[in-house]
Amino acid sequence: MSVDVLLGLQWGDEGKGKIVDVLTPQYDIIARFQGGPNAGHTLEFEGIKHVLHTIPSGIFRKEVLNLIGNGVVIDPVVFQKEIEKLAPFNLDIKNTLLISKKAHLILPSHRLLDAASEAAKGKNKIGSTLKGIGPAYMDKTGRNGLRVGDILSENFMDKYNALVEKHKGMLDHYQGFEYNIEELEGAFFEGIELLRSLTCVDSEQYINDALKAGKKILAEGAQGTMLDIDFGTYPFVTSSNTVTAGTCTGLGVAPTKIGNVIGIFKAYCTRVGSGPFPTELMDADGDQIRVDGNEFGSTTGRPRRCGWIDLPAMKYAIMVNGVTEMSMMKADVLSNFDEIKVCTHYMIKGEKVETLPFDIIDDEIRPVYESLPGWKKDLTGLTSYVDSPQELKDYVTYLERVLEVPITVVSVGPDRTQTLSNKA
Ligand code: GDP
Ligand code: IMO
Ligand code: MG
Repeated sequence: MSVDVLLGLQWGDEGKGKIVDVLTPQYDIIARFQGGPNAGHTLEFEGIKHVLHTIPSGIFRKEVLNLIGNGVVIDPVVFQKEIEKLAPFNLDIKNTLLISKKAHLILPSHRLLDAASEAAKGKNKIGSTLKGIGPAYMDKTGRNGLRVGDILSENFMDKYNALVEKHKGMLDHYQGFEYNIEELEGAFFEGIELLRSLTCVDSEQYINDALKAGKKILAEGAQGTMLDIDFGTYPFVTSSNTVTAGTCTGLGVAPTKIGNVIGIFKAYCTRVGSGPFPTELMDADGDQIRVDGNEFGSTTGRPRRCGWIDLPAMKYAIMVNGVTEMSMMKADVLSNFDEIKVCTHYMIKGEKVETLPFDIIDDEIRPVYESLPGWKKDLTGLTSYVDSPQELKDYVTYLERVLEVPITVVSVGPDRTQTLSNKA
C-alpha cells in the first residue's frame, strides 16, 4: 500500500479541508504532515460549517483514524479549543485521533516572538498568522524545541523553563515590545494536560505498520506550494515544506511509498498576507471574486487578495509535487464573469518568461493573459459534471491540456455534496 497525498498548488486556502472530507470514506487513516494552527481547513456538511486548524479533516467520519504527524507544530491552546468545539459531535477522540510524540510544541513565547518579529519588520512583514509557527520551527531546526513526547517526561518543566528563559532574552531585544508570558501560561498548561490525556504515539512506526497491514492512508497538506519554505515566494512563505516531499519527512514515510498526489487549486487564485502575487487584481474584478468567493481568511478573517489563475506558478507546483490528478475548486465563484482570464506567461523586462523566476517582484512582472468565455450560469445546484455548461467543460479541458494533468474533481460550492466527479 502507498500513501496518497493531497496538497495545495497555490498560496493556501484552495479548499483542502473540503476535499479531504469528501475523500475520507476511501481511506483508513488521514494524516497531517506539516504546518500547525496557521492552517484553517473548512468543512461543510448537513448545514454545519467547521474550521479545523491542527486536527486532520477526516475527524468527522467515525470509522477513520486521524493522525497528527511529527512534521506538525501543535499549540496546546488552539488544540484544546478545537477539541472543545468537537464536543457536540460525540467523537471518540481518544481512539480516533493519534498524535506523534515527535511533533513540536508551540509555546506562548513562540507566539510572542512571532508578534515581536513581525512588528519589527514594519512594512516588510510576512503577514504571518501570528500563531508562532516560524519561531517554533526555528527552535526545531535550532535543536532547542520541545516535543509532545517531552510532556510525558518528568523533567518537562525544567526543559520548558529553560526554553522560556531563552525566549525572554530574545524578546528583550525587541525594544518597546511589551509582554507578559505568565498570563498566557494557564491556558497553555491546561492544553498540555489535555494532550497528556490523549493518545500520543510513535507515529512513523504506526503509519508504516498500517501500510504493511494494507491500510489506505491520505496525507493532508496545509498551506500551499507557493508558501513552501524552499520553493515558495521566499521570504514571504511559511516555515515548513508544504510539498509532497514534506509527507516523507513529516510522517516518516519513504519516497517509494508515495502513491497518488492530488493537487488542489482554485479556478482563480488568492493569497493572504504579504508577498508577490503576479496576477493579483486590484480592480472591480478582484473585488467581485472576493465577494462572490467569500474570500476572507478561515484562521484570521483577513480579506484575501484575489486574481486570475497563474499557469506558470501552477506548472511549477505540479512539477515539484509530482501531481498525478487535480481538483478544481470554487468554479461557482466565476459564474458572474463574461470572460475568464488565465495567465499563460509573464513579461519581465521586455522578455517572455514561461517559468517561475527566482525573484518575483510585482512591479517588474507583467502577467500576459488569454481569455476564455465564462459560463454565466449558476453551478451550485449541479449534481453531475456531464450536465455542466460547455464553457466550464472547455475551461477544464483547456487547463488539463496546458497543465498536462487530469482534473478529476470540479467543486461548485462549499458543501460536501457540491462536488462533481470528472473521472474517466
Ligand atoms: P483550505 O485551507 O485549503 O482547507 O481552504 P479554506 O477552508 O481556508 O478556504 C476555502 C473556502 O472556500 C472555505 O470557506 C470553503 O468552505 C470554501 N469552498 C470550498 N470549496 C468551494 C467551492 O467549490 N465553492 C465555494 N463557493 N466555496 C468553496
Ligand atoms: P491553509 O492550510 C493561506 C500565510 C500567511 C503568511 C505566511 C506565513 O488554511 O491553506 P505563518 O503564520 O505560517 O508564519 O504565515 O503564510 N499562511 C497561509 N495562507 N492559508 C494557510 O493555511 C496559511 N498558513 C499560512 O498568511 O502570508
Ligand atoms: Mg485555509
